[in-house]
Amino acid sequence: MADRVRIYEVGPRDGLQNESTAISLETKLGFVERLVAAGLREIEATSFVSPKAIPQLADADALLPLLPAAPGVIYPVLVPNERGMARAEAAGAKALAVFTAATDAFTQRNIGMTVDESLAAFEPVLQRAADLGWWRRGYVSTAFGCPYTGAVDPHRAVGVATRLLELGVDEVCFGDTIGVGVPAQVGAVTEAATGAGIELRQIAYHFHDTRGTALANVVAGLEAGVRTFDSSTGGTGGCPYAPGAAGNLATEDLVYLLDASGYEHGVDLERVLDAARFITAALGRPLSTKVGQAGGWDASTGEPIGR
Ligand code: HMG
Ligand code: MG
Repeated sequence: MADRVRIYEVGPRDGLQNESTAISLETKLGFVERLVAAGLREIEATSFVSPKAIPQLADADALLPLLPAAPGVIYPVLVPNERGMARAEAAGAKALAVFTAATDAFTQRNIGMTVDESLAAFEPVLQRAADLGWWRRGYVSTAFGCPYTGAVDPHRAVGVATRLLELGVDEVCFGDTIGVGVPAQVGAVTEAATGAGIELRQIAYHFHDTRGTALANVVAGLEAGVRTFDSSTGGTGGCPYAPGAAGNLATEDLVYLLDASGYEHGVDLERVLDAARFITAALGRPLSTKVGQAGGWDASTGEPIGR
């Protein structure tokens, strides 16, 4: 199974959370339906956070119960505290992600807590989720650099990841929140993580493509043995508390790279492009990702596909 890659789609959550255009419930549903049709199986759907912090996802309670139930598909949701957990539970969630960071400065601005305080807040949330049998992820944002304090030592990020695993998460996801990371850092974070006893199958990477390094970072992750990567169909995304954070790595760019490199992942590029065009049209923008513009490439004919 070494050649199988998990693509964890964050378009409906990270992709939309920072958009100023109002996006209707119908549009969000139409987006998720297309992502499911494309073969995506882990789709981070929304966040049960303060509607004042993230107004765009204030409809989480209404959205989650409407999402299409499809075999093997899970819809993790972001949960920052017990209040969010109660809402997620009432809405029928079955998988969650808690989110902290490598640096206090970012965590304080993002969720109003230090890293230590956030871990204390997550403890009852993760306990409850474990009791309910939910899948659980823990994010470590600013693992490659912080917009408020600069460079981050990989061991610092890994220390937070270890504490999340001790709290029972199934997987830790290291976030390059502001897209400053380069491949050598991915190697260093992976090495620090495995050196600390974290298994490769417990590691995911979440690259923002702010400076065009996201795909190169994926290759570094693959070479280091990591097999789970986040991406956002249409390349949307950014966090309002991370100045300068531009879009996530685009799912279509990731799928092209994985297909052409011989990895299995179960996601259909043409259908991803359909979902990408759908959501960027709803946002009133052209699809500007690389593969969104060029299409894929059929090696048997030399023709572009899905353009
Ligand atoms: P706070 O203001 O510090 O805390 O917010 P509070 O407990 O005093 O609550 C303030 C108000 O929010 C109160 O309402 C609470 O009831 C309410 P008021 O009395 O003012 O009317 N509240 C809630 N409402 C709904 N759901 C809840 C909830 N909790 C409190 N769960 C808080 C603390 C964590 C709530 C806030 O800071 C927050 O919601 N932050 C979310 C920030 C966020 O979602 N950021 C983006 C996601 S992280 C990211 O994008 C990075 C990632 O992609 C990885 C990467 O790129 O690195 C994951
Ligand atoms: Mg992000």
